[in-house]
Amino acid sequence: MNDFTFFSPTKFIFGREAIDALGGELSKRFFRKALIVYGGASAVKSGVLKRVKESLDANGVAYEEMGGVRPNPELQQVRAGIELLRSSKCDCLLPVGGGSVIDCAKAIAFGADYDGDVWDFFDGKAKITKCLPIAVVLTLPAAGSEGSASCVISNDAISAKRGVGADIIRPILAFMDPETTFSLPPYQTAAGVTDMIAHICERYFSGQGPALVTDALAASLIRTLIASAPKALADPRDYEARAAIMWAGTLAHNDLVGCGRASSAKTRAGGWESHALEHELSAIDPKITHGAGLAVVMPAWMRYVVDADPSRFIAFGRDVFGIAPADSSDESVKAAASETINRLQEFFVSMGMPRSLKEFGLEESSIDQLLDGLEKSKGKVFGAFKPLGREDARAIYKSAF
Ligand code: NZQ
Ligand code: ZN
Repeated sequence: MNDFTFFSPTKFIFGREAIDALGGELSKRFFRKALIVYGGASAVKSGVLKRVKESLDANGVAYEEMGGVRPNPELQQVRAGIELLRSSKCDCLLPVGGGSVIDCAKAIAFGADYDGDVWDFFDGKAKITKCLPIAVVLTLPAAGSEGSASCVISNDAISAKRGVGADIIRPILAFMDPETTFSLPPYQTAAGVTDMIAHICERYFSGQGPALVTDALAASLIRTLIASAPKALADPRDYEARAAIMWAGTLAHNDLVGCGRASSAKTRAGGWESHALEHELSAIDPKITHGAGLAVVMPAWMRYVVDADPSRFIAFGRDVFGIAPADSSDESVKAAASETINRLQEFFVSMGMPRSLKEFGLEESSIDQLLDGLEKSKGKVFGAFKPLGREDARAIYKSAF
């Protein structure tokens, strides 16, 4: 087991009564005014926003609100949020929604006390040293942002989507009521589950270890997701399935399943290759859902890198799917590794996720644009399981069409 630091400071309040605890939790921390951030219509339609406001009112916490955050949140909205936060003198952020809303709120929270433009943080020109407290009401389990140290923002003007990470942007509170996810459409449910599995796999295939406890947790989380997703898709109001998915999404990305799999105690586990490849897709077309993009690029990445260490795929196949090579010959190992990747992709497809980049309306002619973006955000060579250069990435994108 490699050295690690595990820091998960968020207080998670989970269950049917979670949202009602919101106002009390904020007031006992002496917050006086929250900036509520939400997306399009879902939080209004479901009544979650109303419940949030009722809880704030009941506990004497004032609020300002900013709605309309789009999926794959955009820089202009962050800038507008920073202006609003400064003029309204809010002392904490209260995102109500999924990863996009939470990340928009995070960027507002660390951009508010910075004199320059908030994109500087995403461009490597500034380091996050201050951040207002963030309390999350999660309505879409997927990105894991409710417990993560990451924030991902798109900049449409330059067709870029970039992430930043810092422990101080981890939310201090997360209110998670699985019933708020009953209204999720099948596509978002499936994309969310895919994203969670990708968060676990990015760390599992980090090229580091061994880390037995972490591996056992990783496999059991994925098995739980594979068992729960079809139940939630068949019956969107299946509380136990929704609850399992919601909590698995947090544990998939609060770094628990990275412990011992990073190269040092100061870094995050994994090279995040599939995420890097996917972020370029949603950078050039913000209508592409992050999890759906991952459903296509992650199996393509796996097939490209599997030969670097087939034994890791054999362990994954054994612990997640019960796949075993017929014998120890190279051919049998290869066949079992390949079956493992196929089974994972078939699971994504069975939930309604796409199999190829064509299904997004993308053309192979856009690969160079994707590669240009990738080079800007990740440099000339990236990846931990196997180092990848521009031509490797080209081959992966090509195989995904
Ligand atoms: O806008 P509304 O009307 O609220 O609709 C949203 C949105 O259209 C809808 N939705 C949310 N809760 C709902 C609901 N619909 C019905 N019922 C509910 N209860 O779902 C749609 C998608 O929401 P979004 O927040 O975009 O999805 P997700 O949570 O998957 O977040 C994706 C974003 O997170 C980033 C992604 O890159 C992407 O920008 N990520 C953030 C990470 C982090 N901060 O740690 C890590 C991830 O790897 C990821 O990169
Ligand atoms: Zn993700």
